[in-house]
Amino acid sequence: MKPYVYIAHPIPSKVEAYIAEHCEYKIWNEANEKIPKGQLKEELKSADGAILTGYDVDEALLADTEKLKVVSTVSVGYNRYDTAALKKHNVYGTHTPHVLDETVADLIFGLVLSGGRRIAELHEYVKGGHWGEEPDSAFYGYDIHQRTLGIIGMGRIGEKIAKRARFGFDMAIRYYNRSRKPEMEEKYDAVRLELDELLKQADFVVLIVPLTDDTYQLIGQRELELMKSSAVLINGARGPVVDEDAVVQALKNETIFSAALDVFEKEPLPSDHPLLSLRNVTLTPHIGSATRNTDESMMMRAAENMVQGAYGKTPKDVVKE
Ligand code: DGY
Repeated sequence: MKPYVYIAHPIPSKVEAYIAEHCEYKIWNEANEKIPKGQLKEELKSADGAILTGYDVDEALLADTEKLKVVSTVSVGYNRYDTAALKKHNVYGTHTPHVLDETVADLIFGLVLSGGRRIAELHEYVKGGHWGEEPDSAFYGYDIHQRTLGIIGMGRIGEKIAKRARFGFDMAIRYYNRSRKPEMEEKYDAVRLELDELLKQADFVVLIVPLTDDTYQLIGQRELELMKSSAVLINGARGPVVDEDAVVQALKNETIFSAALDVFEKEPLPSDHPLLSLRNVTLTPHIGSATRNTDESMMMRAAENMVQGAYGKTPKDVVKE
């Protein structure tokens, strides 16, 4: 008998066909609306596996899921998993590393460029019909090439960012990471620094760490004050890795030059959020990995992980505790 799985958001037909080959299944097909938590709990009671992106997978959800063997998220970040609760209920948690690394690095590089050269701001200026109202010099930004990029979190995506920076833009690479990465030092002339030193030296500071207790509000007022007044902060990690209020203040006071953010404390960003009224910020809607090319690969990888787990096998991409 095929296992039964539940998918909590729409999936491409190719991925659905793969799931159909291996499992009985049900899909929540509302793209713009989440399944209410109570209903999701009910659905999971009879499921062997599930794809649950953007849901808190915690004790409340996992209680009474007798059959559940695996939950799969279509993202590399898995901060919505309570890993202790997963362990307690003997459920594998999986994610989708590797397939999105280059894609996220592309977006982050876009944010580096926009933050330095003020692309988002200039776009608003031209679109608003203001071109010519101010001298061009009012919009000068900073060069990207041959300057210093500080990468906080030298994992797989960090490496792809370093590659673009080193070989595409001839930048100097500094990084902050728990462990030394001799291979990155060799390949990209990267230099490992303590956090404070990196913040002082970098022209562009990129955050690409997982959200954990250790990285929660890693960048706050003190850290922003260490940065150069010409520096750009880029967050491609998770919103709570920065103290958002402190970032707003630093942008208002021009403690730093600009910020370019793909992730936020609360998503979608509330319509009255102070970031929306700032000039020196580029905002994207947590879309780092989401392209027409990569989305399907991530979904397929999540489906493969779910199918493996639902059949009682150890999935390929089980998250760390
Ligand atoms: C992920 O997949 O976790 C990232 O947020 C990509 O944007």
